[in-house]
Amino acid sequence: MLAKAINPEKSKRMFTIVSLPGDGIGPEVVASAVQVIDVLEEKHGLEISIEEHLFGGASYDVHGEMLTDETLAACKNCDSVLLGAVGGPKWENLPHEKKPEAALLKIRKELGLFANFRPAKVYGALVDASSLKPEILSGTDFMVIRELTGGIYFGQPRGYDDNKGWNTMVYEKYEVERIARLGFETAMKRKKRLVSIDKANVLECSQFWRNMVHEVHKDFPEVEVTDMYVDNAAMQIVRDPKQFDVIVTKNLFGDILSDISGMITGSLGMLPSASIGSEHALYEPIHGSAPDIAGQNKANPIATIASVAMMFEHSFSMQHIADEIYRAIEKVLESGMRTADIANAGDRIVSTTEITDAVTASLKTS
Ligand code: IPM
Ligand code: MG
Repeated sequence: MLAKAINPEKSKRMFTIVSLPGDGIGPEVVASAVQVIDVLEEKHGLEISIEEHLFGGASYDVHGEMLTDETLAACKNCDSVLLGAVGGPKWENLPHEKKPEAALLKIRKELGLFANFRPAKVYGALVDASSLKPEILSGTDFMVIRELTGGIYFGQPRGYDDNKGWNTMVYEKYEVERIARLGFETAMKRKKRLVSIDKANVLECSQFWRNMVHEVHKDFPEVEVTDMYVDNAAMQIVRDPKQFDVIVTKNLFGDILSDISGMITGSLGMLPSASIGSEHALYEPIHGSAPDIAGQNKANPIATIASVAMMFEHSFSMQHIADEIYRAIEKVLESGMRTADIANAGDRIVSTTEITDAVTASLKTS
């Protein structure tokens, strides 16, 4: 199903990446990721070409559009897209359809990226950076799979006038089937436990979702599936995050729950994501463009570097390189290095470039 998004020939060693640094801290964290890719390319004898394009406000300022046809075409013609972050106060007051967020939704839809993987995994060295107690948190390791190209984000009709505002939550059978299937397949590779999150007690669309998930379950009898209402799920994630292995949910619920899941692991600055379809794939940190610290060499590049690990895993079928990246990140954290967002009182705070250099140094010697 994920034919082209996943390296079909395991022996393939040449890859093309389109990078979209975007706005705010995007260019800084993408530069870190590119530095990591360069080291891995050399170390493993790969040939990776990276073509940079403008996206978001950076593109709007030059072309009057957040996403040009040319950039979109480039994204469709490469093996994998690496995105930094988009948006900032400068472009906040544009009309809805011109906002950076609209460009992000367009790229997801146009590339058919229907599945968004957001891991919630705690790095041992960062257990103290979380707002949860260490004993509740430590050992947490689950994957949120969010449906990304359907639901209320895209449903018609939508709009607002002086008297009302409206959106439509709608899911087609094929949309639920394919995301549910991916959820079960992911669970099969992990602990074989899937929690499907909906609001079937109130929303017909959610009852349909639930029915479809159970239809697909028939093909995966080994997986234990549980249905959970979204409000309860929000509570359970902070009460006992270790109970989860794989979560599959709708677009809007996944947006909300992945922020909660992300935050309990310490900092949004740590969390990568992969958006995958049957033809294309895009990798990006979960955090935003953080305009307040942009250009100051303060941003945490780890989420973007970990997004590169997800790229090697999902798009290039090179799990061993992904593992190398995760190990390098762990080693650097264990050495005590911290960017400001993950520092506790008394920690030595380092810059974006310092922590990136430490990761690449570790990769070179591992
Ligand atoms: C995310 C973001 C986006 C979303 C916004 C920026 C459109 O919050 O990727 O989670 O809501 O999907
Ligand atoms: Mg979000």
